[in-house]
Amino acid sequence: MKIIRTISDMQEAVQTLRRDGKRIGFVPTMGYLHAGHLSLVHLARQQSDRVVVSIFVNPTQFGPNEDLEAYPRDFARDEALCRDADVDYIFYPSAAEMYPPGAGVYVNEDHLSTKLCGASRPGHFRGVLTVVTKLFHIVQPDVAVFGEKDAQQLRLIHQMVDDLNVPVTILPGPIVREADGLALSSRNVYLSETERREALCLRKALDQAEQMHASGERSARSVITAMEKILNTTPSARVDYLSIVHWNDLSPAEQLEGDILIALAVYIGRTRLIDNTRLKTTDAHAS
Ligand code: PAJ
Repeated sequence: MKIIRTISDMQEAVQTLRRDGKRIGFVPTMGYLHAGHLSLVHLARQQSDRVVVSIFVNPTQFGPNEDLEAYPRDFARDEALCRDADVDYIFYPSAAEMYPPGAGVYVNEDHLSTKLCGASRPGHFRGVLTVVTKLFHIVQPDVAVFGEKDAQQLRLIHQMVDDLNVPVTILPGPIVREADGLALSSRNVYLSETERREALCLRKALDQAEQMHASGERSARSVITAMEKILNTTPSARVDYLSIVHWNDLSPAEQLEGDILIALAVYIGRTRLIDNTRLKTTDAHAS
C-alpha cells in the first residue's frame, strides 16, 4: 500500500494504472475510519483492480461554528485499517495542498443542496461537491463509492455527475450499524455514555416509521408525529430536522408513496447525528 501526499504524485500514479488498463475504485473519506467506511472499500474492491482511499478533513464543508478543529483524526490507525482492507493507495493531502491561496472556483448545486442538512449547514454541500470534484480529477476513478448514511450527499453526487457529465460510476453502499442499531459515524466518539444510549432514539424513530409503513400507514404527518414522540421524550435529544421527502427532488411528501426518504438530524447533547431510511412503495392504493 502506498501513501501519497501530493496531487501530482497521485495523478502520476493513476496515469500509470490507467495506461496498464487497471480499473480504479475510489472511496473518499475524512478519516477516523470505521466499519462503515471499510464496507465501502470492500464494495470498491469488488468492482475494480486498484482501490484508492482518500483521507482529508475538508475545511470547506465545515461552517464557522462547526467541529473542523475537533473532528477526530488518527492517521496511524487509519493506515493500519486500510492495509488490512487491502487498499492500494491512500491519498492523504494537506489542506494547503488541496486549497492553495487564491483558489476561487467552487461547485454549487442550487436546489437539492438547500434542503435537509443544507438548510441548517449553509455552504456545506458546496464544500462537499467542490472537494469531491477535485478528488475525482486527482484520482480519475472508474467507480466511486458513497454511503447511504449521507443520503442527501449521495443524491447530490449523483446530480453533479449527471449535470457535469463526470465519467465515473457512483456506487451506493448500505448503512452499517452498531449491533444495537446506531449508525456508525466518526462523530460517535463525541458521545458520553448516557448520550451513546440516548443516541439510539434516531434508529428507534426510524424503526417506528418503518413499522407504520409496513402496516399500511401512508400519512407522512402521522409518521412524523409518532417519530417526534420518541425523539421528544429523549432528554439529551434536540431535533434539527425530521423530514419525509421524495428521493428524486427531496421535496416534502404528504404520502409514503413512491421512492421516499425519511431523514433526520438530531443533536444528542452537542453532537449532531444524522440517520435515514428509504421506503419504496408501489402499492398506491394500500389500505
Ligand atoms: P465521511 O463522513 O468520512 O464519510 C465517508 C464515506 O463513508 C461517505 O460516503 C459516507 O456516507 C460513508 N459512511 C459514513 N458512515 C457510514 C456508515 N455507517 N455506513 C455506510 N457508509 C458510511 O462523507 C464524507 O466523509 C465527506 O463529506 C466526503 C465525501 C469525504 C467529502 O469530504
